[in-house]
Amino acid sequence: MLIQLQGIQKRFGGVTALRGADLSVNAGEVHLLLGENGAGKSTLMKIVSGIVQRDAGSMLWKGQEVSLTTPSQAAEIGIAMVNQEALLATHLTVAENIFLGREERGSFGMINRKKVMQQARELIARHNFPLEAEWRVDRLSPAGKQMVEICRAIQHGSSLLIFDEPTSSLSAAETNEVFRIVRDLKARGMGIIYITHRMDELRQIGDRVTVLRDGHTVHTGALADVSTHHLIAHMVGRNVEAIYEREHLEPGAPVLEVRNLCVKKTGLEKISLTLRAGEITGMAGLIGAGRTELCRAIFGIDPVDSGEVLLHGTPLNARTPREAVQAGVALITEDRQISGLALRMSIGDNVTMANVERISNFGVLKHAMQTELATELGGKMRLKAASPAQLAGTLSGGNQQKVVIAKWLFRQAHVFLFDEPTRGIDIGAKAEVFELMGELARAGAAILMVSSELQELIQVADRIVVMRQGHISGELPQGASQEQIMKLAILDSAA
Ligand SMILES: Nc1ncnc2c1ncn2[C@@H]1O[C@H](COP(=O)(O)OP(=O)(O)OP(=O)(O)O)[C@@H](O)[C@H]1O
Ligand SMILES: [Mg+2]
Repeated sequence: MLIQLQGIQKRFGGVTALRGADLSVNAGEVHLLLGENGAGKSTLMKIVSGIVQRDAGSMLWKGQEVSLTTPSQAAEIGIAMVNQEALLATHLTVAENIFLGREERGSFGMINRKKVMQQARELIARHNFPLEAEWRVDRLSPAGKQMVEICRAIQHGSSLLIFDEPTSSLSAAETNEVFRIVRDLKARGMGIIYITHRMDELRQIGDRVTVLRDGHTVHTGALADVSTHHLIAHMVGRNVEAIYEREHLEPGAPVLEVRNLCVKKTGLEKISLTLRAGEITGMAGLIGAGRTELCRAIFGIDPVDSGEVLLHGTPLNARTPREAVQAGVALITEDRQISGLALRMSIGDNVTMANVERISNFGVLKHAMQTELATELGGKMRLKAASPAQLAGTLSGGNQQKVVIAKWLFRQAHVFLFDEPTRGIDIGAKAEVFELMGELARAGAAILMVSSELQELIQVADRIVVMRQGHISGELPQGASQEQIMKLAILDSAA
């Protein structure tokens, strides 16, 4: 047994994050850690990696009781965490980042650059990483940065490696590359803890699984012995239908029209697209096809070179996000900075800040009303928080994303651009998000839903537009198959 945690408890002020969590991980296994948003997964991993200290419970490392008070203590005994937002020195090379803070120093304390380069090259070659030691880190994709993080972790001779939602923003090919590396590390005898909300990847990678619910362990065992249906029931504490069924309505009048839009900087070429009232337009495409870039251009983040955007028939052509918001356009992305989540503000203030008028009387904020409305929206989305007064920055990742969505729902926009709305959101809440999108459509909003999860698009969208290399490669009606969508993502319809 590599690590054994028993009865782990942790409180943050008034919030109980863990109330008796157990987890045992062996060398040479990939152990999945599952649970709803706010179940305590990240907190437990922070305790294992010395970032956060436990209040109670025992932690055995290779049979010995340990207490870790800093990440470097954890690293010393062989525990490393691959951070989701890679914490790298972006102006340095891959090699320098791998050995940062651990360089061998030559005489006069000078870093031996040649040696660092050489060691990095060996490490990269040994594990066949898709990296070059000389590359600068700021030129790497998110996947590449994650690879550097993994190199950093293993060069130190770690025996336990923790991945907290590593593939949530990776393409299919990059995900496969991460899987290959995880399998390779496992074969070399490392223990791996792997957190994910993507139910489709569990069986490709996991050996055993532990499910947390409300801060304690509700199931643990071999993955082969449990059905996905049962795992989901353990996670949410009830039976849920994973299938969401939407009633498809006749679309109404055009709300947002994009005509021949070109953005040189991001490679968008002559995009024309009409979003109608009451309709959810799905948008598929590979990573880099230009879907996010299209949302950014409509929302006024990236300047448009030619073409136009009309809202209710009149030119919108937003030059700043502020103009877009004022006209009634909302953008919800996984980049919480763009979507405007203020980490130091309360949940209630975040939800209502884009539409303060709705809860003010002659310029005076009505706090009771704010609390009531924020509580209502939070309840709908199964937000896990102590109260609307809790600071957004102290919420779990998935719950922060729910606050972003709630904020824009509260804004009552006419057009909603959802860019990967359910990324990082647990399976129970996904259905709620789709439900809310359906409600918005019924109320007359026009919705664009960008998603890489084809199954979700097929379930939710009224039609699916596919992008490829900066242009629209085709459109499919409701009922299209995954194969049809993939084909358009790699080939134009005319081809
Ligand atoms: N620093 C903190 N202050 C206050 N509460 C916190 C803090 N860190 C975590 N929490 C709370 O602890 C609970 C567990 O959070 P945690 O981040 O471990 O969840 P998670 O299972 O990783 O969820 P997700 O799937 O959304 O990432 C949540 O209710 C969260 O709000
Ligand atoms: Mg988390």
